[in-house]
Amino acid sequence: MAESKPTYYITTPIYYPSGRLHIGNSYTTIACDAEARFKRAMGFDVFFLTGTDEHGLKIEQKAEALSTTPQAYVDDMAAQIKKLWQTLEISNDQFIRTTDDYHEEAVAEIFDRLLKQGDIYLGEYEGWYSVSDEEYFTESQLAEVYKDENGKVTGGKAPSGHEVQLVKEQSYFFKMSKYADWLLQYYREHPTFIQPESRMNEMVKNFIEPGLEDLAVSRTTFNWGVPVKSDPKHVVYVWIDALSNYITALGYGSNNQTNFDKYWPADVHMVGKEIVRFHTIYWPIILHALGLPLPKQVFGHGWLLMKNGKMSKSKGNVIYPETLVERYGLDAVRYYLLKAMPYGNDGIFTPEDFVDRVNYDLANDLGNLLNRTVSMVNKYDDGIVPELNSGITDFDNELEATSNEVVTNFKSLMNELHFSDALSEVWKLVAASNKYIDQTEPWVLARDEAKKEQLDSVMAHLVASLRVIAELVSPVMTHAPKEIFAQLGIHDEIDLTNLAFTDLQSGIKVAEKGQPIFPRLDTEEEVAFIKEQMTKSDKAKGRAAMKEAAENNFDPNETELASDKKEVRFDAFEKIELKVAQVKSVQKVEGADKLLQFRLDAGDDGDRQILSGIAQWYPDFNKLVGKKVIIVANLKPRKMKGEVSQGMLLSVEHDNGDVELVIVPEHLPNGSTLE
Ligand code: MSP
Repeated sequence: MAESKPTYYITTPIYYPSGRLHIGNSYTTIACDAEARFKRAMGFDVFFLTGTDEHGLKIEQKAEALSTTPQAYVDDMAAQIKKLWQTLEISNDQFIRTTDDYHEEAVAEIFDRLLKQGDIYLGEYEGWYSVSDEEYFTESQLAEVYKDENGKVTGGKAPSGHEVQLVKEQSYFFKMSKYADWLLQYYREHPTFIQPESRMNEMVKNFIEPGLEDLAVSRTTFNWGVPVKSDPKHVVYVWIDALSNYITALGYGSNNQTNFDKYWPADVHMVGKEIVRFHTIYWPIILHALGLPLPKQVFGHGWLLMKNGKMSKSKGNVIYPETLVERYGLDAVRYYLLKAMPYGNDGIFTPEDFVDRVNYDLANDLGNLLNRTVSMVNKYDDGIVPELNSGITDFDNELEATSNEVVTNFKSLMNELHFSDALSEVWKLVAASNKYIDQTEPWVLARDEAKKEQLDSVMAHLVASLRVIAELVSPVMTHAPKEIFAQLGIHDEIDLTNLAFTDLQSGIKVAEKGQPIFPRLDTEEEVAFIKEQMTKSDKAKGRAAMKEAAENNFDPNETELASDKKEVRFDAFEKIELKVAQVKSVQKVEGADKLLQFRLDAGDDGDRQILSGIAQWYPDFNKLVGKKVIIVANLKPRKMKGEVSQGMLLSVEHDNGDVELVIVPEHLPNGSTLE
């Protein structure tokens, strides 16, 4: 019987389908994909899981705002996310959705079991709740508090900047406190459980030592979730639901547990730093309570930031992977993301850095090495790669030694999820190979018949080195290795297990002419292009109009404005008439808390009436009288609450979810058109 391969189970977090995924989210998935590919090439039987986290209040609200059902909304978003992973050539073995029947059934069982065995009890919860974070905060955890004249706290902001509100509800709780000592002991006995190590200290100092609080694990304030079996007015709160995906995907709690028996415990859960706490405190405790072994490791990576901080639509600094892939190719994007994120720390995306990496690392260093090699083998050896004989010159020996060292270091770095350093290691071999050409000067050797053996050795060594490079980059780049092999005439299967410099097939024939595998970019032009994409992706008008459409229950598809999901062609954009209008009066609409009714002078014959769902942000709405705003002037009039609305007001959304009207200078004439 053939010996069975060792298994390797790796997971991404499951993504909230509440918005389009950007290059930051894509980083996690690409990193896991690179690791999964690496392990497969190392002979492991890999199971790579990703998916979507589809329950919760935010999704329910989002669907409601778009006048659709939560299910229809998540179906659409999950399909988009799957499509993105296809574009990024993610090699996941399964895609789990928390709305999948098998998952929901298993979660209901898990909850029921924990309840029956006394780990979960019924209590009452009161706390400051942030809808956007789906998290409760204690007063001391709030980043900002609002107080009334008597000093009583009336509201505030979560650490994320989102508004919080005081919520009291009956809730089931998980007795986390009972397991605190066990968890600390577990950490001590498994010092590599949390990586990088510093994150373990954070958990101990910030959360466990101050006293582990019991965790509220059900909600009655919304419905979009898995109902508690014995008490269905409660739904299982998102973290038990979400975390369980890692085992339900393998069949845990179903009648087919083959994958669970084979792959659990996971080798690594890869997560962003802000959710390390859930994966290293709550998840281990839940698993322990279920009598299951813990994942071998939780790896908390940093964030990919932009120059002005976190990526956010309102900052207009979001970059979507599809845009970059379409213009620069998938390899460039995957390479860049893994290279730009230092181990365990935050990385910064700048258009300049992206273009430089493509130009220097890919086009110059690697691309040129391949080109020069192919053309020299053609010139000096009629395209046939000479036999690789070791030890002709010291330079040859050195290159081979560098390659061996790089292969060893690369493997151990990839084993430890040090992607950026692993790539730097490969580029040591790229640099060494380029240097080798300068040192051996093949064009000089070619002038001397007596040096033919040396010249041949140089050619063979270069091809051997490129072969190693192509194999090593294969977990990260999905196209370049094949192209390098094709140009060198190599027909090997990628196999990192026994990768040896000297294993070069003999008599291979290189392509007649090398093709650049990475085109050189015009720095100025491409930096400008990327910058433009960053702002274009979220033109304020598109978003604000979408938001307003959503809040007013318009069908957003009736307008041709840009949504998060689709971009419009210029001719569609041109159809939209944006005008300056002055507010003449504002009042509340009876029976509609959210709506304000504006009368405006938009340079038309009479006044214009527009209803806007922004009442909550303008308690002093009278202050808006006299202000000049921007309206979408040619929107089909709509009736709401018995009133006609003749257009939309443009607004912007802040990071914390607050909405503010776009106010323009007073000297702009009423009715003037925005170009
Ligand atoms: N649904 C939860 C995870 C549940 S796992 C049982 C969640 N989803 S998320 O969509 O908000 O985030 C998914 C992952 O994307 C997280 O690991 C998060 O850190 C990562 N990222 C989001 N923005 C990011 C960057 N800008 N940079 C790097 N990773 C980022 O949390």
